[in-house]
Amino acid sequence: MKKTYSSSAYSNHDVLVIGGGAAGLSLALKIAEFTKVTILSKSSLHQGSTYYAQGGIAAVLDTQDSELSHIEDTLLAGGGLCHKDIVEYAVSRGPECIEWLMQQGVAFSQLDKANDSSSADSDKFSNFHLTQEGGHSHRRVIHAADATGKAIFRSLSEKILSNPNITVHTNTVAIDLISSGKLGDKNSRCIGAYILDESTGAISTYNARFIVLATGGASKAYLYTSNPDGASGDGIAMAWRAGCRVANLEFNQFHPTCLYHPHAKSFLITEALRGEGGILRLPNGQRFMPAYDERAELAPRDIVARAIDSEMKRLGCDCVYLDITHKSPEFIREHFPSIQKKCLKYGIDICTEQIPVVPAAHYSCGGIMVDKNGRTDMPNLYAIGETSFTGLHGANRMASNSLLECFVFAFSAAENIKQKLDSTELFPEPPFWDESRVTDSDEDVVISHNWDEIRRLMWDYVGIVRTDKRLQRAANRIELLRNEIHEYYGNYKINTNLLELRNLALVADLIIRSAIDRKESRGLHYTLDYPEQLKNSTDTILKPEN
Ligand code: FAD
Ligand code: SIN
Repeated sequence: MKKTYSSSAYSNHDVLVIGGGAAGLSLALKIAEFTKVTILSKSSLHQGSTYYAQGGIAAVLDTQDSELSHIEDTLLAGGGLCHKDIVEYAVSRGPECIEWLMQQGVAFSQLDKANDSSSADSDKFSNFHLTQEGGHSHRRVIHAADATGKAIFRSLSEKILSNPNITVHTNTVAIDLISSGKLGDKNSRCIGAYILDESTGAISTYNARFIVLATGGASKAYLYTSNPDGASGDGIAMAWRAGCRVANLEFNQFHPTCLYHPHAKSFLITEALRGEGGILRLPNGQRFMPAYDERAELAPRDIVARAIDSEMKRLGCDCVYLDITHKSPEFIREHFPSIQKKCLKYGIDICTEQIPVVPAAHYSCGGIMVDKNGRTDMPNLYAIGETSFTGLHGANRMASNSLLECFVFAFSAAENIKQKLDSTELFPEPPFWDESRVTDSDEDVVISHNWDEIRRLMWDYVGIVRTDKRLQRAANRIELLRNEIHEYYGNYKINTNLLELRNLALVADLIIRSAIDRKESRGLHYTLDYPEQLKNSTDTILKPEN
């Protein structure tokens, strides 16, 4: 059943940014230099993935390093599907982004000059420590110990909250986008969004000249994930329902090393720990990565995650182990203080004991198709950060290129909006939201049951190793679930759980369809039915039917 629209409150905004992570916050600060901007976020601002980022941001900051090398590493990790022009563009803007973050007050880890040679060897950045992660042939990851996201979030949110041009509405959930006509019709464009106030349950209409989706990824589609709860692919689902194309959703990245502990809820153990010498071992202590790839523990993520999965299946064990005990306790405490503290809480002293680890869903390489300026198929609608598909990551994102992408495309989208903004233009009057035909649900268990079912079927059938049969099973089940959710959504009052479930089911369906379409193994998509790579492989682009 389709909901109809009639009356409720509405407000006007020059620029409406949906999402308060690295992408949304940095875009808002750039936009606030020339106009007013409103940021919305589900629950509190720090509940996106940004806050939890550990390893750092990749950028060429050392004179020993080069743009060419960062570009080549990214292309190689991306398995032949990266868009080279976008890679070149993102890499070229890296140092500018880092400088801007420093101006905002982000305190990146400094070099311990007495004991450390892993510096950024150029004037501007020579005091900073650079770490290394999988796929990078140089040290080029600038970081704030093992809690880079927290440091970024703290500085940016402080600037945001004191900026008179920026309004922040937390506990607000975007439900759907509003357009002035069918996508493709003359003068049709995005004119706002319907927004749920999580604390009151009220729904209002936000009119905007420009709307930016910065809603993060969709890894919550999987049972085991490093992501926080809100990573339900809302932006991808909203853009799809509005008629925008999405691409490469089959490439969901699994991070090789999340803490294996019944109470740890997939806490990440940063790849930088392997970058600083951490070794992966089987339960009997044997090192196994050199047998899979000459780069061993520092091979790109798809290779390491698949190797762990394969060893766990071969041995029937619950986890493998990450060992950093050969480093001094002082070194471990300085570089990995959060991980050390977190593991201690679960009874593991990483200075003397190996860390039990398993892979978990971590990052959506695909997303809403955008150009270099973050523009989607729909005029006046932009998408930036993890929700977008720029072409930077190809079939497998290289570590720490994600935060880089957030900043680079937030900057270019802001520059594009600045050129196009006409503050004299009248705001259109979109239709209001009407919920006069819906009632309170007396069966909320349907939501939690379906949510669990989706995440389990995605883990079992659309995981690290796929087959046609498993994907078809997943497709059949998701169709049933989507029908049930559709009916439920039409009849009952909306809340965040229901919205996320509806979005998650749609994005899971799109992931499955993309995976079925790819008849080869490449990067993060590995299928036993097509183990080889096709010669002329292209992006998997899905377009909504009108
Ligand atoms: P997020 O930071 O996820 O923010 C999304 C925002 O959108 C949130 O505010 C959320 O509330 C809001 N939102 C979502 N849906 C709605 C809706 N319907 N209505 C209103 N608001 C909504 N990458 C790196 O490059 N380096 C790292 O070291 C690194 N470490 C990581 C460690 C962990 C544990 C995780 C999970 C990821 C890591 N990544 C890392 C990936 C990187 O952190 C993310 O890709 C990046 O932070 C995404 O930023 P974002 O702004 O796109 O989205
Ligand atoms: C990590 O620190 O291992 C995560 C880095 C990333 O996802 O880029």
